[in-house]
Amino acid sequence: MPRKILVTNALPYANGDIHLGHLVGYIQADVWVRYQRMRGHTVHYVCADDTHGTPIMLRAEKEGITPEALIERVHGEHLRDFTGFHVAFDNYHSTHSDENRAYAEDFYAKLRAAGFIETRAIEQFYDPKREMFLPDRFIKGDCPKCGAADQYGDNCEACGAAYAPTELKNPRSAVSGATPELRSSEHFFFRLSDPRAVAFLREWTRGANAAGTRRLQQEAANKMREWLGDEGENTLSDWDISRDAPYFGFEIPGAPGKYFYVWLDAPIGYLASFRNYAGKTGGIEVEDYTDPARAERAGTEMVHFIGKDILYFHALFWPAMLHFAGYRTPTQLAVNGFLTVDGAKMSKSRGTFITAQSYLDQGLNPEWLRYYFATKSNSTMEDVDLNLDDMIAKVNSDLVGKFVNIASRCAGFITKRFEGRLAAADEAACAEFRAACESGVIARAYEERDFGRATREIMRLADIANQYVNDHKPWELAKQDGQEARLHQVCSTALTMFRDLSLYLKPVLPATAARVEAFLAIDPMVWPGTWQPLPAGHVITPYQHMMTRVERKQIDALIEANRESLAPAPASASSEQRHAERQQHQAQAAETASPHISIDDFAKVDLRVARIVSAEHVEGADKLLRLQLDIGEDKPRQVFAGIKSAYDPAALVGRLTVMVANLAPRKMKFGMSEGMVLAASDENDKAAGLYILSPDSGARPGMRIR
Ligand code: 2FM
Ligand code: ZN
Repeated sequence: MPRKILVTNALPYANGDIHLGHLVGYIQADVWVRYQRMRGHTVHYVCADDTHGTPIMLRAEKEGITPEALIERVHGEHLRDFTGFHVAFDNYHSTHSDENRAYAEDFYAKLRAAGFIETRAIEQFYDPKREMFLPDRFIKGDCPKCGAADQYGDNCEACGAAYAPTELKNPRSAVSGATPELRSSEHFFFRLSDPRAVAFLREWTRGANAAGTRRLQQEAANKMREWLGDEGENTLSDWDISRDAPYFGFEIPGAPGKYFYVWLDAPIGYLASFRNYAGKTGGIEVEDYTDPARAERAGTEMVHFIGKDILYFHALFWPAMLHFAGYRTPTQLAVNGFLTVDGAKMSKSRGTFITAQSYLDQGLNPEWLRYYFATKSNSTMEDVDLNLDDMIAKVNSDLVGKFVNIASRCAGFITKRFEGRLAAADEAACAEFRAACESGVIARAYEERDFGRATREIMRLADIANQYVNDHKPWELAKQDGQEARLHQVCSTALTMFRDLSLYLKPVLPATAARVEAFLAIDPMVWPGTWQPLPAGHVITPYQHMMTRVERKQIDALIEANRESLAPAPASASSEQRHAERQQHQAQAAETASPHISIDDFAKVDLRVARIVSAEHVEGADKLLRLQLDIGEDKPRQVFAGIKSAYDPAALVGRLTVMVANLAPRKMKFGMSEGMVLAASDENDKAAGLYILSPDSGARPGMRIR
């Protein structure tokens, strides 16, 4: 019976880069999805950006753009990164979408009608200058336990103490620097403490789905038991699902100035992306996946791949929301652990906080990482360690040395000596391959998401294939008279073995598998019911190289490109600022990676002498000045320049400077910016100041600089 499965990955926040830590879970899901499809099952694989909340609102503000512009840009970046690693969602949507709003409102209305929503006033820190309530991570102060300065509102990095933001000494807002004050405000709560919710979750977290598979891995189920406490105990607190304006999100119907908390509409985004996808493709009955009765009848599944840090949301809030709003609950949570690199937490100063983009930009093969992660994945919540030496060794020895090597040693003879035509394979030599197919051992490992076991079994077969080639030495047969038929059979047999290995590796190495299909001139490989060799007489195409080795220096360059200077970030820098700084470092690293551009590259930049016609402060922007620049056109260009810290606007008026005139106009929160003013600064010494450029006297507005 073909299965019908809706598969999701956790929605990444729309204000950060995808890094290798994210990719563990995305690659695991993608491998599983590809495997299911090879089995002939129907899989809808969707994801989206998680776009709401205070950090995204503030980040956009800092960049001088609207949150909508920020999330649109990041959406493109995230999709580019996933595509680059062959993570092939059917749909990559956004939580800031009509579908998501409609679903969020529907959940809310139904939960309310079922008596699960309650309002009550709570006290929270408020920033009187920025006029907003502050999430814990935007409050800083001295640790109440050890006195360490500049600690976040929830825990101390110096002594490890956890506390409430109200306990901080000398608290201040990380947004404006103002001293926060406690204010009361009405919040909406999802009543998780309701005995119905507790009873439901106790049952749900322990139970199995219709196919008899546990909904949660053993470790996850154990965690839930800890959180839920013993029978009769009620350990769940109600969940605060609202936030006050200003907030980037959906306003709660009938509650002006109150917004759904980002974590309320994030998982709902799974359904929104699916709905959006169904709308685009037609032919999918969404309710067969979302309505409990219809889902049961249709036998559909819903599987969420998530990291262990968000288990709480997905094993408590989300199933309770779904169930009490009348939706079907997930059939399975596939929870992965964190990524460590060389046994330690990813670190920016060590260069092991590796972004997806930097990996691809350095020209590394995404399938190397897919394979390595697969070998380390075992369906538990254990952390996955990316040991860089081990990765180099595994890729070079398994993929290049064992797998690709079989084809590269045999294909040439078929092309040169037999016009590409295969002979009948020696089936007796393929006994282990037939047995592996018929026992389903690899299939089971994939199904259980134990990709480490799957790849070990595949490499056992690769060893057998290499042994076969070594034993029969086609390169020697080729030199001997009268061994033509034997050479033909040995090479054909080895290529059947190679086909089997490619097929088993296809979920992990989709691009290589596509090259193998072209090389062997075969239809897209699907999971075989019975074992068949490549048929005698079948004609293959000339062998093209399948995969190169990883070189140590490529990995070193990757680490260098991600290494941040060891100079401590300024004490006041928020994580957002650090993030922006990291991107600058990466841009610099990318520049130094290829030190030359051609004169044509340079000529693409249209630099002009500009006269500053007017300069003024921009309301609400702490870095920008609004400039009107005359470059000899009919009317001056408006440009927002981040030079407020260095110049009094009045002193700029009338000056000549240099601008980039052919930069694509950019819509900013404060209006269009139609170019860019150049300024000099020392990247490593911000205190050295910021300096715009001036042409020598006599230059006229509009003159081209080349
Ligand atoms: O932790 C995170 O990165 C969240 N953006 C994950 C959301 S997953 C789902 F609930 F949307
Ligand atoms: Zn402390």
